Amino acid sequence: MFNTRVKVKELLATAPENQEVTVMGWVRSFRNNQFIALNDGSTNNTLQIVVELGAFDESLLKRITPGASLKATGTLIPSQGKGQKVEVKAHSVEILGDCDPEKYPLQLRNRPSLEYLREIAHLRFRTNTFGAIFRVRHSLAFAIHKFFNEKGFAYLHTPIITASDAEGAGEMFRVSTIPFDNPPRKDDGSIDFSEDFFGRVTNLTVSGQLEGELGAMALSEIYTFGPTFRAENSNTARHLAEFWMIEPEMAFYDLEDNMDLAESFIRYLIQYVMEHNREDLEFLAQRLAEEEKQKPQAERSEMGLIEKLEFVVNNRFERISYTEAIDILLQSPAYKKKKFQYEVNWGIDMQSEHERYLVEKHFKKPVIVTGYPKDIKAFYMRQNDDGKTVAAMDILVPGIGEIVGGSQREERLEKLEARMKEMHIPVEEMWWYLDTRRFGSVPHAGFGLGFERMMLFVTGMTNIRDVIAFPRTPKNAEF
Ligand code: 4AD
Ligand code: MG
Repeated sequence: MFNTRVKVKELLATAPENQEVTVMGWVRSFRNNQFIALNDGSTNNTLQIVVELGAFDESLLKRITPGASLKATGTLIPSQGKGQKVEVKAHSVEILGDCDPEKYPLQLRNRPSLEYLREIAHLRFRTNTFGAIFRVRHSLAFAIHKFFNEKGFAYLHTPIITASDAEGAGEMFRVSTIPFDNPPRKDDGSIDFSEDFFGRVTNLTVSGQLEGELGAMALSEIYTFGPTFRAENSNTARHLAEFWMIEPEMAFYDLEDNMDLAESFIRYLIQYVMEHNREDLEFLAQRLAEEEKQKPQAERSEMGLIEKLEFVVNNRFERISYTEAIDILLQSPAYKKKKFQYEVNWGIDMQSEHERYLVEKHFKKPVIVTGYPKDIKAFYMRQNDDGKTVAAMDILVPGIGEIVGGSQREERLEKLEARMKEMHIPVEEMWWYLDTRRFGSVPHAGFGLGFERMMLFVTGMTNIRDVIAFPRTPKNAEF
């Protein structure tokens, strides 16, 4: 058996009683040819391994370099030095993998920037920042399942490959095995997709919602949590071509029930991470505070990361209608001084600058906006009696803008069909979706939380490429 190690996190919390322990990890630093700072990713803290002068071969000591991996066995003793309670006095050290410091990318820059670390995303896990981020990401994913499990929701695995465009926005990646250089063609010269793998045009899913609705129409409360794909050419700090989305779908819910669930869900997730990842959050809060110091005073946020998270847990979200939101924007000093780049009027699809004005400047807290114009929203949203708006809800949060998009669904068959025809959604192909409205339709609602947007909010990171291990963005699919 090789894996006899105890994790660094556990050892740091263990009372030292001269017990023999084995640790394995990567060298962060080696001081005075005696003190190894060893990290194994269980925490950002390192365990000090003391190799006594004269006790080890010079040839071995030379190989203890930053990035090298090793196994050390020794006794756990109270630390002689400052900064740690325990240390390991090594009696054996075995190098598992050498690491040439002259070539090790993490050693080549003094304080590597986040941009540089994106170029070496395969190694950035080894930095404190990314160690903290990916432990938080894990916790957040776990908390999501825990929340829904406690509420009795079923985790439904909706397909990754689909033939439908759930959002109707036409931003899909084609899935095909047809040879690009010599595709089968129909008589009129167009490509014959009946010859393709699935015998039809298929794409990577943009959302699991439609299939989620099918599940909710029997299991009553389901959620999906999986990767979704969007071929939108948005090269922003908030968009990915491949991102993870959580989509609960609930029978017997109206829009208000939907908002209540979304709000308590977000609060629960933040609370969970604050409880279980305190150390990592404090590290990230510190990182953010340093980053903020570089900014001009006016652009700095009023609260630190932890304060902001506590604030969200303790305060109810503001709830306003789209019409109210537009009125606030039209009355705003920013609008009057022509500070907005994009125009404001009833009917616009609010831009990030508008959403951020509402949450950061006006309300200074998360805001749920409801009742959007039907023309800027998807076909499946429930039509309001005014004939102009739909029962949509977006949740906007400081620093990010939209984090959740959802709605009550149109459960009335005639209304849904009419809207689909108006929006040129292929009604015949969607027979299976419409069947739910034919056979025991019920009021229902759901929403989608962008997992990486939630990660941005919780970690205080500002670029979405830094909260997913291997970001996929336009012109970038390295690793
Ligand atoms: O608002 P969206 O497009 O809504 C849906 O897909 C619905 N089917 C959800 C539902 O009702 N079940 O996307 C939902 C959320 C957004 O609010 C945002 O947080 C995130 O997904 N999102 C993205 N995150 C990263 N990169 C992108 N390109 C994103 N597009 C949407
Ligand atoms: Mg949206």
